[in-house]
Amino acid sequence: MIEKVPFRLIQISDIHLFADAKRDLLGVKTEDSFQAVIDLLHQHEKHMDLILLSGDIAQDNSHDAYVRVAQALESFHVPVYCVPGNHDDPHTMAKVYPLATISNERHIVLKNWHIILLNSQRHQAVEGNFAESELIYLQRCLQKYPEHHAIIVFHHQPVPVGSKWLDNLGLKNAKEFWRVVKQYPKVHTVLFGHVHQEFETMVEGIKCYAVPSTCIQFKCQDAFKLENLPPGYRWVDLYEDGKLVTGVRRAANYVGVYDPHAKGY
Ligand SMILES: [Fe+2]
Repeated sequence: MIEKVPFRLIQISDIHLFADAKRDLLGVKTEDSFQAVIDLLHQHEKHMDLILLSGDIAQDNSHDAYVRVAQALESFHVPVYCVPGNHDDPHTMAKVYPLATISNERHIVLKNWHIILLNSQRHQAVEGNFAESELIYLQRCLQKYPEHHAIIVFHHQPVPVGSKWLDNLGLKNAKEFWRVVKQYPKVHTVLFGHVHQEFETMVEGIKCYAVPSTCIQFKCQDAFKLENLPPGYRWVDLYEDGKLVTGVRRAANYVGVYDPHAKGY
């Protein structure tokens, strides 16, 4: 139920945590940069209603990484929902979650909004793809609540973000996804991760938003390059009349020393 107006979601993405908290990803200790975002949330978000994790929670598929994320998020005392990214192992996630405040629910129904979480992971691939069963699940959710404004959350970008290397690694069957959602006029917004940068666009009247990673940031250009931007998160406010307002907040400083010559990750 939406008891307060607005209802605030927090989107966190691409944490890439290791079992060993001292390990780094291209020069950034992912534990430290994740902690910087946790601190930022504690500083700025005096009220939030739920947290969405849009994939790449663990870099190394380790049980310990998934547990540490749950421990860090427990301090917010709100439910947390997640989808797998290409670096995650859904089987490990299913063994660890639910844990603390992290749920394994995939459909969150509010008073006049609903949030549908999908698995866009293609086994052992960096690019994404929706299995037919995921698209059927999506349709069932949309059919069940035809009057609710819908937010759909998954990992891989369903639209080009303007970066050649990244756009080769997006959602491969995006056309099928859009064919489904265009049939449902109440689909309002799509939230995703994977691209490690702030991005927004609109497709057929549906807003699409990406969020910075909590660790390394990708520069929007044709070849892989890291960008010297701090980690961050997205906040999303939902209003009862169907209005959605969103923005990105970043930490004040870059966390760690990234490798400017990295050619990939
Ligand atoms: Fe990622």
